[in-house]
Amino acid sequence: MQDNKYIYSFRYDTTESMLCKLESRYIFNKEEEHKQLISNVKIEPSRSAFIKRRLDVISFSTDYAMLIDQIKNENIRTDGFKVEYLVLDGDSTRYAGRLAKLKDVGFCIDSYPDYHNPTVIYGICTYEGIWYFGVLIKNNFAWQNHKQKPYSYSNSIKQNIAKALVNIAVGSKQEVKLLDACCGVGTIMLEACFAGYDIEGCDISKKTCKNARANLSHFNYVGEVHCSDIKNMTKLYDAAIIDLPYNIYTKATDSDILHIIESTSEITDRIVIVSTAEIRNAISSAGLRVVNYCEVRKRGKVNFTRKIWVCESEDKFEINQD
Ligand SMILES: C[S@@+](CC[C@H](N)C(=O)[O-])C[C@H]1O[C@@H](n2cnc3c(N)ncnc32)[C@H](O)[C@@H]1O
Repeated sequence: MQDNKYIYSFRYDTTESMLCKLESRYIFNKEEEHKQLISNVKIEPSRSAFIKRRLDVISFSTDYAMLIDQIKNENIRTDGFKVEYLVLDGDSTRYAGRLAKLKDVGFCIDSYPDYHNPTVIYGICTYEGIWYFGVLIKNNFAWQNHKQKPYSYSNSIKQNIAKALVNIAVGSKQEVKLLDACCGVGTIMLEACFAGYDIEGCDISKKTCKNARANLSHFNYVGEVHCSDIKNMTKLYDAAIIDLPYNIYTKATDSDILHIIESTSEITDRIVIVSTAEIRNAISSAGLRVVNYCEVRKRGKVNFTRKIWVCESEDKFEINQD
């Protein structure tokens, strides 16, 4: 545990389980299990749609009484505090027991609590035989305000997926220049901007670009939207995301799809592609290798599944292998 300072809890439904695990591999270098993960990587919970809470561990012990002593020794004096109990996988402590533990912790803190508008929330939990105490940081879900964007498509990508795509494209890097290669009304761009990443968009449709710009400025985000066929883009990017046309509202033939993937691979080595069709052949024709893959089923429509392909250029892959 010594190096693992943060305990994360997750929330997702079964259709998003593969996506959440893939995202967690890119953020933490390991998969969450049973909706929790212990790591030394610190990220804001609201960067992901799936991370519910982060406990910043202050003290831990295999012995509960010892943990309580450790908390007392911290001499915490924070007026307006609140304590919450995190129920993690494998914790069978019943409600009355959890309540008693909240009181134990509360009495270690020599200040007035505020249950309604706390200045700080402390958390207690047990996991794999160890008791943990720390500061609890919650996903503020402020990114859900993006639902009120002025322009939407009925086939716009779901926010949860958009956020995961950004995290998968960025990985553990901080300074990344991203491209949303078929940006539509900018759903993915909004999530990248919220997380503080540098992203530009490109779309062939003039009207859609206008709407994407309006959506970005509605939230005071800055991100250039190029009204262009992706084949005419020459600027280089660290990574790109492509939410391919689904052939529902926008017509796209196999050769259009190949053209979009090939053109994007000319300007970046790393692409996260979303498709509803099998596009493995197009990916390899574009000189890319699939390094990770997952599926997200659309709830209620069994035959509508989004496929997510994490691709790297063959050249880059060979350099990484050396
Ligand atoms: C599935 S939509 C993207 C939706 C977007 N993620 C959103 O949430 O609004 C695909 C987009 O690709 C654009 N597109 C199609 N062919 C293109 C090309 N050759 N270059 C750039 N954009 C293209 C379409 O205009 C359409 O807006």
